[in-house]
Amino acid sequence: MIIRPANSISGSLTLPGDKSISHRYAIIASIAEGPSIIHNYSTGADCHSTLNAVRALGIPVAEDGTTVTIQGKGLDGYSASTGDIDAGNSGSLIRMISGVLAAQPFTSRIIGDESLSGRPMQRIMSPLAEMGARIEARENQFPPLTIHGTALHPIDYTLPVASAQVKTCVLFGGLFANGATVVREPVRSRDHTEIALREFGADIAVSQRVITLQGRPSLVGRELLVPADLSSAAFFLVAALLVPGSDLVLRGVGLNPTRSALLDFLLSAGAYLKVLNLEQVNGEMIGDIHVRSAPIRGGVIEKDVTAALIDEIPVLAVLGGASEEGLTIRDAQELRVKETDRIATVVENLRRMGVQAEEFPDGMRIPGRQRFRAATFDSFGDHRIAMAFAVAALAADGESRIEGAEAAAVSFPSFYELLDGVRSADAA
Ligand code: S3P
Repeated sequence: MIIRPANSISGSLTLPGDKSISHRYAIIASIAEGPSIIHNYSTGADCHSTLNAVRALGIPVAEDGTTVTIQGKGLDGYSASTGDIDAGNSGSLIRMISGVLAAQPFTSRIIGDESLSGRPMQRIMSPLAEMGARIEARENQFPPLTIHGTALHPIDYTLPVASAQVKTCVLFGGLFANGATVVREPVRSRDHTEIALREFGADIAVSQRVITLQGRPSLVGRELLVPADLSSAAFFLVAALLVPGSDLVLRGVGLNPTRSALLDFLLSAGAYLKVLNLEQVNGEMIGDIHVRSAPIRGGVIEKDVTAALIDEIPVLAVLGGASEEGLTIRDAQELRVKETDRIATVVENLRRMGVQAEEFPDGMRIPGRQRFRAATFDSFGDHRIAMAFAVAALAADGESRIEGAEAAAVSFPSFYELLDGVRSADAA
């Protein structure tokens, strides 16, 4: 993919549905009673892997554009898959559905691509084992996972890492256990699961960072709308902030407070951002975001804030290089076990465009006011790395190239096309 520098990023866009919410709606709909109709379902390959996974488990799924209809058969409606369940590139899918599979009266095997096959699964294996499940993994920690389902019992579990995927896995297992499952979080992670379970009729209470779910609820199929993905919007927000003369409106974006730390950070760093038409749909906040290019101060991202905007760090690192004071990111060791080691892949690509960056075990420091040279970037097969450096290329001094650009389709197949639609005539 060749990306030329842009003069401005302007216009109005509606981005595809949120990946995190789509996965959850599909899985919960598959164990609810009766049909669920999900509008604006994520177009990304990851969320398609989830639809195929529930199909493999005997649940009918129909797709009509971005509207998905799932004919749930209740908590006991799955049948054993005849082959392996393929989670593709998706950490969310393998970790979340494992909670459901651990409670089935049959054995399942979940596989993934090369990247997923190197990602840690102990974090879900250990609470599921406490609930009574038996799971085998390569080297006792990596996919493929063989899950011998059984009747689970409820647990009171304190998450050792801040992970919404692990929290969700335990809560999904808890749906099948008699009694109350309790999950305690070190810091508040995205709460889409709690909101969605409540929407489908579960009895779930949240107090501070303690979630209590009553087992064996009757979940009922529903009609739902997935908001546009704020983590996809992040690429457009940074593009508009970075390219002078930009003025962009993103419509119907998910603004759940456990996801919107990105906006708080950008505002604190001097961004021009306005949220309009805020409303609540299916328990999730949705609104339009208006952004204009503005000088960004930079700053420090650390502690709880890092966890809350972990997926947006690659593109924020790009913005950091153009900021006035630079950007320091700490407490981000989780980035090393994402689709790639995102500390290493971000720093490598920054250096390719002549931007200095210092790597730490738990983050990086990118000094400000740096010039972006045109370069050949590598996605390393990671969707967010491909998109982050496509955004960097907009502000470079010539034509850049992204190798492995197609990785963007994991979360956002129409990314380059939509970017093309809002960029103005290229700079000379
Ligand atoms: C996600 C949680 C985060 C995030 C991922 C999606 C989710 O991962 O990075 O892209 O949908 O729950 P962790 O749970 O590993 O923090």
